[in-house]
Amino acid sequence: MKKQIAIDGPAASGKGTIARGLARALNFAYLDTGLLYRAVAQRLLQGAESRAVVVARSLVRADIQDLHDLRVLEDLGLRHPAVSAKASEVAAESEVRSVLRGLQRDFADNPPADKSGAILDGRDIATVILPNAACKIFVTAAVVVRARRRLADLEAANFGGTESVPTLEDLRADLQARDLRDETRADSPLRRDSGALLLDTGEQSVAESIAEALAYARDCLNLAD
Ligand code: C5P
Repeated sequence: MKKQIAIDGPAASGKGTIARGLARALNFAYLDTGLLYRAVAQRLLQGAESRAVVVARSLVRADIQDLHDLRVLEDLGLRHPAVSAKASEVAAESEVRSVLRGLQRDFADNPPADKSGAILDGRDIATVILPNAACKIFVTAAVVVRARRRLADLEAANFGGTESVPTLEDLRADLQARDLRDETRADSPLRRDSGALLLDTGEQSVAESIAEALAYARDCLNLAD
């Protein structure tokens, strides 16, 4: 059985932090699947092409073939709030999802030889992309907690000091709008798989969340401590 960990949850829930912590501790390859939707959204915003599925196909063919080197994607300003909003729109398109689905499964099925398994995070990993993953975790936190985290991230990045940082209330509204769209779309909506551990990071430190996730992962992957 392949060693795969599926992590899902709403925006700014802490799933990326937990996924990176697990990947480091277990020596697993890690894919933040939101970056794929963000990459499509960013190219649409740049205006070279107007159909999301065409962009998705060209991404699959070219730049992101080597997903194991995702630093390329991380560097491109993909976390910008305008890209976040557009990504959630693009992600509702079934054709786009189907183009990106194969890529995500390939990544999960073929970790590099020096890695012990694969960990993916997103919205539909446990429910659609890897329904047979040995280990599934659903990460969540109250929306106000998530908005505060996002504000701290934006203040730290501030995109070169060139932009005004949104208010907490704006961020909260943005997160709620994005969550609602992700939860109510017809294709692969965000929802907790019945087999997933529910991890609420609202009242925990990062170290506590990672420790809880790690203990669970070792258990479901049958790994010794
Ligand atoms: O996780 P992140 O906030 O980077 O994802 C950006 C957007 O991409 C989400 O709001 C969601 O609409 C979409 N997404 C998705 N399925 C995934 C990962 C992300 O629909 N597996």
